[in-house]
Amino acid sequence: MNEIPHGTVQEQTFYEQVGGEETFRRLVHRFYEGVAGDPLLRPMYPEEDLGPAEERFALFLMQYWGGPRTYSENRGHPRLRMRHAPFAVDRAAHDAWLTHMRAALDGLGLTEQQDRTLWTYLTYAAASMINREG
Ligand code: HEM
Repeated sequence: MNEIPHGTVQEQTFYEQVGGEETFRRLVHRFYEGVAGDPLLRPMYPEEDLGPAEERFALFLMQYWGGPRTYSENRGHPRLRMRHAPFAVDRAAHDAWLTHMRAALDGLGLTEQQDRTLWTYLTYAAASMINREG
């Protein structure tokens, strides 16, 4: 039985609240447009085609916020700090990364609270990814 009694508040994941897959794909697509034109960040990405990196990041964020588990089905446990170890994430890379993320978020038209939730997470996560001095 899938019926929900009248008056019951249905729990929604944050993923669903902000618009699901489409929203996360828009966010990550805009973010990678910024990366593509960034002289510091672009050379850090090992593949010439940024498409696969965009796909991995979108799937990761969708999973993190309560969407489908496709990221882990394809990639296993995220272990993000370990996966970033080969890349020199210093303060400058961190700042550039967040600049493009902020611009991408601005384009989504989320509510102030949704924006703050995502932005708080992203800024903490970015700080935790720094693995080089400078
Ligand atoms: C702080 C600055 C950051 C820089 C410079 C950076 C750079 C990179 C680079 C160069 C890659 C490899 C691209 C690829 O082939 O997938 C990558 C992968 C990835 N990054 Fe970051 N990153 C940063 C922060 C973050 C943050 C904060 C998150 C999560 C919120 C994140 C999530 C990911 C994911 C999910 C992947 C793909 C991992 C996989 O291989 O499955 N990154 N990043």
